[in-house]
Amino acid sequence: MALLKKVNQILLVLLVLTVCVILYNKVHRVPSTLKNETAHLENGEEMEEEIPVVICAAAGRMGAVIAAINSIYSNTDANVLFYIVGLKNSIPHIRQWIENSKLREINFKIVEFNPMVLKGKIRHDASRPELLQPLNFVRFYLPLLIQKHEKVIYLDDDVIVQGDIQELYNTKLAPGHAAALSDDCDLPSTHEMVRSVGMQNTYMGFLDYRKQTVRDLGISPSTCSFNPGVFVANMTEWKHQRITKQLEKWMQKNAEENLYSSTLAGGVATSPMLIVFHEKYSAINPLWHIRHLGWSPDTRYSEHFLQDAKLLHWNGRYKPWDYPSVHTDLWEKWFIPDPSGKFKLIRPDS
Ligand SMILES: *[C@@H]1O[C@H](CO)[C@@H](O)[C@H](O)[C@H]1NC(C)=O
Ligand SMILES: *[C@@H]1O[C@H](CO)[C@@H](O)[C@H](O)[C@H]1NC(C)=O
Repeated sequence: MALLKKVNQILLVLLVLTVCVILYNKVHRVPSTLKNETAHLENGEEMEEEIPVVICAAAGRMGAVIAAINSIYSNTDANVLFYIVGLKNSIPHIRQWIENSKLREINFKIVEFNPMVLKGKIRHDASRPELLQPLNFVRFYLPLLIQKHEKVIYLDDDVIVQGDIQELYNTKLAPGHAAALSDDCDLPSTHEMVRSVGMQNTYMGFLDYRKQTVRDLGISPSTCSFNPGVFVANMTEWKHQRITKQLEKWMQKNAEENLYSSTLAGGVATSPMLIVFHEKYSAINPLWHIRHLGWSPDTRYSEHFLQDAKLLHWNGRYKPWDYPSVHTDLWEKWFIPDPSGKFKLIRPDS
């Protein structure tokens, strides 16, 4: 009898708990009609996952990072944490711009990059000094910047995100891969672009195959290259494979032996990454990296094609804050003028 009473009590407690859970869910679903996060609230009190996005803020082109951040923030409901990386002298400017615009609502951290870590590792290329911006190498040092996240997104500053960044973040990385990138042969429309502007999309465009050290790598020069301006990385795997050390080794070797192609199709940070990640990366959805918009002042994609693109990248010399450039309207839509007036768009009529 006593046992039966106990069982009844337990059942009663369970019933009460169930009712509580149902009520709890109901109460917590009220705001979901406003924010439409029903699916997310299904698992009760679980915290919304933070999506870390690393992006650099370089002096002289600071409008770029502002437009990129605004496009990401405006197109997602996800909880994005922006890691904005700058050099000491540019940090006050970026902070002021964010805090005096609608971007003051974003979740962000400003991180200072100390270019001393690059000492002795970069070669000076007089033909395109802008590529030697120390911030180009920030992507090699992600684990130093990001401590509490396993998965991280890195973006160049000359991008606009038209899709929901959550989708890019959900990119699956195969076991043993420290990063997911998009290779330069992934889209037919890219092939046309490549042909029409006479661009390199193989390792030959980045590595000097006359050098023995390069030939000793055993990588075919016709291997498709990839663009490291957009990637998703796994910090655990990155640290496990000592990716930063490997990249530094290939910077150092280049400083000593000049291994990288002098035409440097896509920036100085690309070649070491091509070597270190050769056959060791996962793919991102090609629509998440539509690139070469900055390659030529008059080669355009079809508007229709760009409408479906999730991310646009103006890699190349013709930047959308500058003149001449193409598809500038798609970029300017997200630009927020500098409250301090220091950064100005270059336009034909200004
Ligand atoms: C919530 O999102 C779903 C699909 O994602 C949509 O069908 C529904 O209309 C949305 N509800 C509200 C209130 O916005
Ligand atoms: C990251 O890599 C580690 C080690 O390989 C693996 O255990 C983990 O599941 C990976 N995480 C993600 C999000 O891919």
